[in-house]
Amino acid sequence: MTGLRRIGPDEFTLRLDAVLDVYTRAMNPPADQLSGRRAIMRNHAAHPAFTCLFAEDETGTPVGVAYGFHGVPGQWWHDVVRRALVERHGEDHAGHWLGDALELAEIHVHPDHQGKGIGRALVVGMCAGRLERTAVLSTRDGGPTAALHLYRSVGFVDLLTRFVFPGGHERYAILGAALPLDG
Ligand SMILES: CC(C)(COP(=O)(O)OP(=O)(O)OC[C@H]1O[C@@H](n2cnc3c(N)ncnc32)[C@H](O)[C@@H]1OP(=O)(O)O)[C@@H](O)C(=O)NCCC(=O)NCCS
Repeated sequence: MTGLRRIGPDEFTLRLDAVLDVYTRAMNPPADQLSGRRAIMRNHAAHPAFTCLFAEDETGTPVGVAYGFHGVPGQWWHDVVRRALVERHGEDHAGHWLGDALELAEIHVHPDHQGKGIGRALVVGMCAGRLERTAVLSTRDGGPTAALHLYRSVGFVDLLTRFVFPGGHERYAILGAALPLDG
C-alpha cells in the first residue's frame, strides 16, 4: 500500500538521502555523479514555489519521488531550454511554454514498485492545483520508454527532440503540457 505525501523544501533537504536512494535505484547513475546530483537537488529546493511528492510505503519509506518548481531566468535548465526553443521556434513559442511554467525536475519510482500506477499518480499530483500556464520537463529520448509513454498519456507534447544539453552527450526530449492537465 502506497500513499502520496506533499513535502516542502525543508523536509526535502533533510530527506535527501532517501530521495537519492530512489533516484539511484531508478536511474542507476555512475557512482561518481551522486555528490553532484545531491548538490543540484539541494539547490533546487531553494527555487520558487518548490514542491515535492513522496510516494511512501507502509513504513514511511519513499518508494517514489517527484519534485518541481516555478521556472525563472537564471536557472540553468530554464536558460538552456529557453535559448534552444527561441533558436528553433522563436521568442513567442519559447515565451508561451516557459514564460509561466512548472518545471518538473525529477520523477522516479523504485524498480520494485514500478508499473503500479505510482508514476502516473506523481505526475498528476504534481500538476494538480498549480497556477502556472504550462508544465515542462526533459526525459531521455530515442525509445519507447515508460516515462515518454506516461507523459504523453497525460497530455505532454514534444517541444524539442534529440536535444543534447551543454556538456552532455545523451539525447533528451523536452516536453510541455498545458495546465491543468486534461482529465
Ligand atoms: C517513468 C517512471 C517514473 C514511471 O513510474 P511507474 O510507477 O512505473 O509508472 P506507472 O505504473 O504509473 O505507469 C505509467 C505508464 O507507463 C507504462 N509503462 C510501464 N513500463 C513501460 C515500458 N517499459 N515501456 C512503455 N510503457 C511502460 C505503463 O503501462 C503505464 O501506462 P498505462 O497506464 O497506459 O498502462 C518509472 O518507470 C521510473 O522511475 N523509471 C526510471 C526513472 C525515469 O526514467 N524517470 C523519469 C525521468 S524523466
